[in-house]
Amino acid sequence: MTKATARAHSNIALVKYWGKRDIQLNLPARGSVSMTLEGLSTETTVEFGDDLSRDELKLNEEVAHEADRERISGFLDLIRAEAGIEQFARIQSSNNFPTAAGLASSASGFAALALAGSTAAGLDLSKRELSILARRGSGSAARSIFGGFVRMHAGNQNDGLDAYAEPIEVAEHWDLRCVVAVTARGPKKVGSTLGMNTTERTSPYYRAWLDTVNPHIEESIHAIRKRDFEHLADVAEASCLAMHASAIAARPGVLYWRGITVGLIHFVRELRASGLPVFFTIDAGPHVKVFCEGDAVSEVRKNLQDFDGVIDTITAKPGGSAELIEE
Ligand code: DP6
Repeated sequence: MTKATARAHSNIALVKYWGKRDIQLNLPARGSVSMTLEGLSTETTVEFGDDLSRDELKLNEEVAHEADRERISGFLDLIRAEAGIEQFARIQSSNNFPTAAGLASSASGFAALALAGSTAAGLDLSKRELSILARRGSGSAARSIFGGFVRMHAGNQNDGLDAYAEPIEVAEHWDLRCVVAVTARGPKKVGSTLGMNTTERTSPYYRAWLDTVNPHIEESIHAIRKRDFEHLADVAEASCLAMHASAIAARPGVLYWRGITVGLIHFVRELRASGLPVFFTIDAGPHVKVFCEGDAVSEVRKNLQDFDGVIDTITAKPGGSAELIEE
């Protein structure tokens, strides 16, 4: 095998990852919990060949920027070292969701690349090994190897072999929906890697944030297993706000929110107070991700679409694990 294609879905953290215990191996300081999103996916083909003098990357049909090519090439070096090969590769990767909206694509991207790249290189990795590999590309990508509801372990070994994700429940367990309220176009200004490094180095609230994570992980797993929406709402909003509070307190403050982001936080709370079961979460950008159960999704979507300034909404249900696609 020298060529393989894989698809992986993006995911949204319900208990956030924000901070690293090792930058070189990209080890998270704490674990996290997420839902994999059906529909928001990346498809990646990797083909190793003797005719290439360096890796070639196309993203969404276009030749990629050099910085992106180098990041991907560095990741393929890990695969080459493990497989004992020296060939370079042609990589084609496309997202089926609007990249221009600045929605995270590194999770689905590195999960698909880990699976396609390792398979094309002749490796037959277990899901745990794939998760460990994907983590080297991006922490959140380790979770996108699995479908449904997923837990990431921070681990404590120096080699990072205990920092992997594993499933909590499969996608069919709970008809939870995520409606993304897209609030801006264009890529975000401060990427998550830089944002979390600045928080770790300078925020007086970084330690306090870390102290919230393990209890939140246990609570959220309990709520997911029991399909306890109210409890999950409470934990997910607390984790999101604690993460952003630590980031905002950094020097310089890492502030991802726009006015509309705050407007939507209040709006989601008003909807909940009026009897519609919803909660929000926000990542390293201005968009607001609103969770509800399947029976409420059309009402939630309509409310968000009508909200002044919301550009678009993207709705997803729990998705499956990363998979190879037969050619
Ligand atoms: C706010 O996985 O993008 O979305 O490991 O540096 O690539 P790197 O970071 P990344 O960070 C995700 C941060 C977050 C929360 C989360 O997804 O857990």
